[in-house]
Amino acid sequence: MSVQFVVTPVHLSFKESILTKIQKLPHKNLVLGICGGIAAYKCADLVRRLKEQNFDVRVVMTQAAKEFITPMTLQAVSGHPVHSELFDAEMEAAMGHIELGKWADYILIAPATANTIAKLVHGEANDLLTTLVLASQAQVIVAPAMNQQMWSNATTQQNIKNLIQQGIILIEPASGVQACGDVGVGRMPEPADIANMLADIAFQPQTLKSKHIVITAGPTVEPIDPVRFLSNHSSGKMGYALARAALQAGAKVTLISGPVNIQPPKVDTFISVTTASQMFDAVKQNFDQTDIFIGCAAVADYAPDKVSEQKIKKKGEQINLLLKPNPDIISWVGNQKDKPFVVGFAAESEHLQQNAIKKLKTKGLNLICANDISQPGVGFNSSSNRILMIDDNLDETLLETDSKDNLAKKIIFEIGSKIIN
Ligand code: C5P
Repeated sequence: MSVQFVVTPVHLSFKESILTKIQKLPHKNLVLGICGGIAAYKCADLVRRLKEQNFDVRVVMTQAAKEFITPMTLQAVSGHPVHSELFDAEMEAAMGHIELGKWADYILIAPATANTIAKLVHGEANDLLTTLVLASQAQVIVAPAMNQQMWSNATTQQNIKNLIQQGIILIEPASGVQACGDVGVGRMPEPADIANMLADIAFQPQTLKSKHIVITAGPTVEPIDPVRFLSNHSSGKMGYALARAALQAGAKVTLISGPVNIQPPKVDTFISVTTASQMFDAVKQNFDQTDIFIGCAAVADYAPDKVSEQKIKKKGEQINLLLKPNPDIISWVGNQKDKPFVVGFAAESEHLQQNAIKKLKTKGLNLICANDISQPGVGFNSSSNRILMIDDNLDETLLETDSKDNLAKKIIFEIGSKIIN
């Protein structure tokens, strides 16, 4: 299994439509594993949509799945016999489970039940589907669907975290009215959306293949004394989304991150730092092997001049905290002689364009991604953003409000096309 990420639908209208590329691409082999949840009824449509996206689909069903949709329906839509028995001499003679595992480029489990998810976490292999997963090198993608209470259960959530850590891609369940009448998160996304996401994963152009990209992300935390610090609200979501998109585009990724509360993607090298000065050291250490540098971290501009060894006592009167400027990491990178392709971010509360252009020039950037933090719902700590990209020819591209994952894909695509040209 290769990279790890959580996917959401990407808008294909950006620059060259990925769909146009798909039409030129050969088929990819996909095993669709169907578990016993009510959403299984959507799988006939899912098979059709996957075939439209150039996947050759073979279906594997758990015993419980057959209670919700018949193998005959899935055989008719996939055009292949449906597999469900681990010990079926006839099937094994046609295409055995080991062979099926080797054949697959992707194993999509949709709907993935809490039970099968738990089995995957522990490497159980007591039915055809779980055995197949263990016996295959294919990238596994799970689309969980279950009652909202089962989904939010702490054990399920821990299992999901473990799966992501194992390198399995998660397609997050949608929210809404459930078959049982509950309302909440746990619905299987629409088949067309899942098929689009799969196409996105399988047919993503490898625009950054064999490039080493170094990304800084999250805040820096500057200690004042053993218990207090200076920092900011950066969540790390944008930097982590860029790391995921870069992995998808075939890059070797080094992610240098300040303290955040989100799960890091499974990058080639993950370096955890606290202060700006530690982040700067990590960037310098990697500099010689960096082809692309993205400074997405919200680096604290100042740090306390001296860190007090003991907790500063309350005295009931004003105190002064002397601050010293932190190194400007991206400026250092952008002003080196043999610099990589340098991409910076600018969070601005006024004069977005002018301030971004000023930073682009003074910091020696090739591309700047500016966002207006005065707009509600975008930027810091939010899951979505709206970005104005300006390159070193001062050409501008506005990326309308979208999820950070989708924006990251567009930014990585833009970097890829600039590096090739
Ligand atoms: O000057 P300002 O902090 O607004 O610029 C933001 C850009 O500069 C971001 O790309 C950020 O990662 C980078 N930066 C840096 N080191 C600093 C401050 C900002 O790399 N000390």
